[in-house]
Amino acid sequence: MSDNDSSAGGLRVAVLGGDGIGPEVVEQGLRVIDAVGVALDTEHYDLGGARYLRDGTVLPDSVLEEWRSFDAIYLGAVGTPEVAPGVIERGLLLKMRFELDLFVNQRPFRTDDHDFVVIRENTEGSYAGEGGFLRRGTPHEVATQGSVNTRMGAERCIRYAFELAGGRRNHLTLVHKTNVLTFSGDLWQRAFDEVGVEYPDVATAYNHVDAACIYFVQDPQRYDVVVTDNLFGDILTDLGGAVSGGIGLASSANLNPARTGPSMFEPVHGSAPDIAGQNKANPIAAILSGALMLDFLGQTEAARRIEQACEACTGVEGSTVEVADAVMAKL
Ligand code: IPM
Ligand code: MN
Repeated sequence: MSDNDSSAGGLRVAVLGGDGIGPEVVEQGLRVIDAVGVALDTEHYDLGGARYLRDGTVLPDSVLEEWRSFDAIYLGAVGTPEVAPGVIERGLLLKMRFELDLFVNQRPFRTDDHDFVVIRENTEGSYAGEGGFLRRGTPHEVATQGSVNTRMGAERCIRYAFELAGGRRNHLTLVHKTNVLTFSGDLWQRAFDEVGVEYPDVATAYNHVDAACIYFVQDPQRYDVVVTDNLFGDILTDLGGAVSGGIGLASSANLNPARTGPSMFEPVHGSAPDIAGQNKANPIAAILSGALMLDFLGQTEAARRIEQACEACTGVEGSTVEVADAVMAKL
């Protein structure tokens, strides 16, 4: 069966356009997937800030249960300025990552100048919600925010990164702050060194996160695959986007590599409410996230074609629909 034959379809995808520019860019991503000849069986979900404002729904457990039987989730962006920060982020995005065990957040960065991938741990660290207040609102208040690092959690993410590097240029860099974060850093470093013994062909390096920020800007060619914890990965991947053509091009895959449920694919950018509904948003990040989805679902040839078409459109300007049209013309 040829990869671009529509009979290769049957892939069930839950589509969550979300808020702001989310629905517009996802629509273009779906057009491109259709144009490359992969048939998806899609189901659209109305969730995000707008839905929350309407009826208070964020992410019902019943929807999560439905999603477990899908092959993937394709998400645009969620969040509106009218909803307090954090409600949708934690209630929808983080809940999805935690409940569906999307433990790898894979973010590729590619330009004429460099080509590297950040593997961000996606279920632990400072995102786990450990901590609390004492005497909140008093002059003596205390707030703690812990970072949860399990050996299993770090190890499975590191192992994924070694596997990925083995299929690329055989180089993996651990980014952390082991000189100061002596507990979590020690766990990560030992896991990295011990797993590394199983991958003798993969050369390794270590950077402190502050130094990595300099290298991301001044010498990104040194990187092939980077593995890091949740919060460092969050910050570093925005920087990665900024030095790789802008956040409008940055794609991401929230993966459950064990495939015990669907993985989720979304552009790194947010809902950009200021330009929503104006056919102005760059759809490339969403289109490339669609390619990551096809790749993960085994449609590798179709994914390569989309990536190459996007690359051929570097610098193309125009409306959301025009840019997608330009990509489709290059398929
Ligand atoms: C990202 C976003 C999220 C994160 C927010 C919206 C919770 O910034 O996907 O990088 O911090 O992980
Ligand atoms: Mn982020």
